Amino acid sequence: MRTIGLINWKGGVGKTSTALNTACLFANSGLKILVVDADKQGNISTWFGADPSGLTLADILLDGTDASEVIQHTRYENIDIIPSDASLIQANYEVLKDKSKAQHDILKRSLESVKGNYHICIIDNPPDSNIPVLNCLLVMDDIIAVTLPNRFSLAGIHQLQMELNNYNQALHLSLKVRGVVINQYTTECTDIFNEIASKYKIFPTIRGGRNTQKWLDRVINNQKSIFEVCPNSGYARDIKRFGNKLAEVIEADATGQEVLW
Ligand SMILES: Nc1ncnc2c1ncn2[C@@H]1O[C@H](COP(=O)(O)OP(=O)(O)OP(=O)(O)O)[C@@H](O)[C@H]1O
Ligand SMILES: [Mg+2]
Repeated sequence: MRTIGLINWKGGVGKTSTALNTACLFANSGLKILVVDADKQGNISTWFGADPSGLTLADILLDGTDASEVIQHTRYENIDIIPSDASLIQANYEVLKDKSKAQHDILKRSLESVKGNYHICIIDNPPDSNIPVLNCLLVMDDIIAVTLPNRFSLAGIHQLQMELNNYNQALHLSLKVRGVVINQYTTECTDIFNEIASKYKIFPTIRGGRNTQKWLDRVINNQKSIFEVCPNSGYARDIKRFGNKLAEVIEADATGQEVLW
C-alpha cells in the first residue's frame, strides 16, 4: 500500500476536493483504494457516505483498534474508508494527556493488518496540526502539499515544513514534502509558481474558475466524482494529469528511476 497525504495548515485550499476525486480516478482504473479521513470536519467521510454510527479514526487512536474493524465499504466497489467525525477532537485530547503511551505510531500499528489489501491509501488532512495528523504523517510515503496560488496558503506549507522539522528532530524521522500541487491555478500566478518551484517539486497544476466551481459544487452536493459529473471538464483532465504524475512517481520509486519534473 502506497500512502499519499494531501495536506496544508491553511484551510480551504482544496485538499478534500483533490483527495476524493483522485481516489475515484485511481479506483476507476481498478486499483483498490483506502481513504483515511484525518479531519474532525468529516467532509470526505460524509461525501463517501460513511455510516455515522460506525467506528472511526478516533477509536483507532484511543484504543489502538485494528483498522480492519473500523474500515467501511463505500458505494464505490474499489474504495473503502476509515472515517472521522467530531469525536476526533476528544481523541486528540485524550491521547495527548496520556504520556505513558507512544502517541505517534498508533495508526501505523493499526494499519499493519490491512496494508496488503490496498494499492493506494489517500489521507485527507485537516488544516491544523494535532495527534491525528502526526499519526498520519508517520504512515505517509508521499506528503503532498495542496496550495492556492497565494501567500497565505504558501505560508501554510512553510508552517507544515516547520512542523515536519520538529517531528524529524524529536522522533528521528526524515519527513519532507514530496511535492506541491497548486490548486485554482491561473496564468496570472506565475510569480508564486516560480517561488514555489524554487523550493519544492511541483505536480501538474489544477485549474480554478467559475466553471470548475460549478462542477465542484455538483461533485460535493450530489456526491458524485468529477468523472461522473463531467468527465470531459478541464478539472477532470487536471485531476488525471495530477494522478498520472503521482503514478509516475510511484513507478519511478519502485524501479529506482529518476522522475522528470
Ligand atoms: N480547483 C477549484 N476550483 C474552484 N473551486 C474549488 C477548487 N478546488 C476546491 N474548490 C472549492 O473550494 C472550497 C474548499 O475546497 P475543499 O473543501 O476541497 O478544501 P479543503 O482544503 O479540504 O478545506 P478544509 O481545510 O476546510 O478541509 C470548496 O467549496 C470547493 O468546491
Ligand atoms: Mg478538507
